[in-house]
Amino acid sequence: MTEGLFISFEGIDGVGKSTQLDLLVQYFEEHGRTVCRTLEPGGTDLGREIRELLLHRKGDVAPRAEALLYAADRAHHVASKVRPALERGEVVITDRYLDSSVAYQGSGRELGFDQVRDLSMFAVDGLLPHLTVLLDLDATKAAARRNKTGAEPDRLEREKTEFFENVRQAYLKLAADEPNRWLVIDAEQSVHQMQSQIRARVQGLLG
Ligand code: TMP
Repeated sequence: MTEGLFISFEGIDGVGKSTQLDLLVQYFEEHGRTVCRTLEPGGTDLGREIRELLLHRKGDVAPRAEALLYAADRAHHVASKVRPALERGEVVITDRYLDSSVAYQGSGRELGFDQVRDLSMFAVDGLLPHLTVLLDLDATKAAARRNKTGAEPDRLEREKTEFFENVRQAYLKLAADEPNRWLVIDAEQSVHQMQSQIRARVQGLLG
């Protein structure tokens, strides 16, 4: 098995994952650990092309094709970047991982949790994170935060609030089913409060 530590961040669009991720990277680096900060989709060269197709291509993408494209990105990401970094003993922190597919495609696109989970587990050959941090926020509030940035919404971000509320509920269910792997953070708190809670849990993993 792997030597490193594997952490994923999850949540609907607009909850503030990247700020928390940046701060956690800083924390590990201050403790002398080498960190591989990455993301899905788009953590590799191939992944960046897949990300472009998924988020910026004009026209429809059938839900099963969408699920398979995310799975293809993930399979390549894990094989070429995540596993090698873990084998070198690094801390891998990823902005999204397979739970995004279970929540967005399984629930948001109504493809079903179990099928999408099986597909994702095939893609990663069974590799699960040691810790998954869920930043949880009401879908209306997350939409307001996204609008405030003024950035042009991508294909997924154009979905209705109801879609995101379904995704949010799916995440909460996944977290409740596997409390040992998940940490649920209330994303209405301050940046500092959220980071303190994340660091407190991470300390327990450092041993
Ligand atoms: P982000 O990198 O800005 O979070 O954008 C990725 C988008 O893709 C986001 O809307 C969530 C979505 N997504 C899925 O629907 N399924 C997946 O498996 C992943 C990784 C992301």
